[in-house]
Amino acid sequence: RAILHGELRGDDVIVVSNREPYIHQRRGERIEVQQPASGLVTALEPIMRACSGTWIAHGSGSADREVVDRHDCVGVPPENPAYKIRRVWLSAEEEAGYYYGFANEGLWPLCHIAHVRPIFRSSDWAHYVAVNRKFARSVVAEARTKNPIVLVQDYHLALLPRMIRKEMPEATVITFWHIPWPNPESFAICPWRQEILAGMLGSSILGFHTQFHCNNFVDTVDRFMEARVDRENFTVSFGGKSTAVRRYPISVDWPPDPALLAKPVEQCAADMRALNNFPAGHRFCIGVDRLDYTKGILERFRAVERLLELNPEWIGKFSLIQVAAPTRSSIDEYQSHEAQVRALAIRINERFGRGGRDLPLPIVLKVEHHDAGQVYEYYRAADCCFVSSLHDGMNLVAKEFVAARDDERGVLILSQFTGAARELPEALIVNPYDTDQCAAALHLALTMPVDEQRNRMRLMRGLVAEFNVYRWAGRMLLDAASMRQRSHLVETGG
Ligand code: F6P
Repeated sequence: RAILHGELRGDDVIVVSNREPYIHQRRGERIEVQQPASGLVTALEPIMRACSGTWIAHGSGSADREVVDRHDCVGVPPENPAYKIRRVWLSAEEEAGYYYGFANEGLWPLCHIAHVRPIFRSSDWAHYVAVNRKFARSVVAEARTKNPIVLVQDYHLALLPRMIRKEMPEATVITFWHIPWPNPESFAICPWRQEILAGMLGSSILGFHTQFHCNNFVDTVDRFMEARVDRENFTVSFGGKSTAVRRYPISVDWPPDPALLAKPVEQCAADMRALNNFPAGHRFCIGVDRLDYTKGILERFRAVERLLELNPEWIGKFSLIQVAAPTRSSIDEYQSHEAQVRALAIRINERFGRGGRDLPLPIVLKVEHHDAGQVYEYYRAADCCFVSSLHDGMNLVAKEFVAARDDERGVLILSQFTGAARELPEALIVNPYDTDQCAAALHLALTMPVDEQRNRMRLMRGLVAEFNVYRWAGRMLLDAASMRQRSHLVETGG
């Protein structure tokens, strides 16, 4: 955090993302401020608090434009402003084509192995290009110098790096791709693959969570572009510009906000039991996700069903609480996924539920937005946390759970298909498609001796403490700083 304060105070730092870090909404006469459910926001928000600057984002959640315009360039966080938000406003058609269409029906399933077919429409692509241009104009308007540091976030803005470079050749553009990068064969089905790659190669630095995704990206460029790929230094030269491709595993704030840890673990457990009508001694596992088909929520429910089949002693004594934040709900695939999740929860609850007795249900599904305080109470109260993503760039829920457990208790069950599994081998690592293995992991988690829980949790906490989100951003910014110094030396002949 000190590095960010020291290195960046005074620098012209601009973050650009689709998702806004705060949502301003009118409630009667009041303006209510909320934070969206987003790993990207969780990671970048503490960075922006530390280094100030401007965050440019689509005003998507802040639907009441007239009200929000007054808050268009306000300082946030509201209680103690540290940086400002500049909103980019999109029409309903632009949002449908760029965000729901090309980004989330095209690129999202293209990059995640979840066996959902990407949909590519040329009308969505036209909006995607136009909206990226709109963001580029906003970056140019916000820049205070000719060489700002611009942090471009994610797959919504793949064309932005080249557009910025065209307008501001001296800018340092650091692009971070928050989701996996597929192999060249998979990526090849995108009709605009060369445009996407050329756009991204406008970056000075291009970051992914894992080396595997860096390798996939470089292989993809090698296959489809007239570019020079240097595999020793992991750089790509294209159109007279060099891009360093690097691994920067994202993480969470450390130490976590003390307010999130203020309530003692025992109190959290008592409150969560009361809230869910669980009797004393009832055990529970927590799942926290956006209601997205990549998160493996159906697979998690099937694991609970199998646990109860194989270990009937848990019937009525164990529940999975699934917090599922509604997301991208106007897309057909998300609507049908939500329906499947609800139907499976009902079926399992009917099969293993009360049966005339007053027992807690095995699946408690909460399809609603929860704020960080509520989520941390669940993390602190739970016996275990189950992350069963079918594919995930990193997955910050895994790291948040670890950060929440200052009592060194609780077990993390973690899908092998997350970036986090590479950093947290002390979790119970599972294949979410292997229902028996996941059920066995649940049983193991619920019966794990306290000493073993502590040993595993200590190691994971050590990792998250050291490789926290400041390290993630700090490493990118230090790499950018040495790049800037080198090019200054070349320019000045020194
Ligand atoms: O981390 C991937 C990501 O798509 C982020 O870009 C995004 O903020 C988050 O998941 C939530 O998705 P959305 O912004 O579409 O609600």
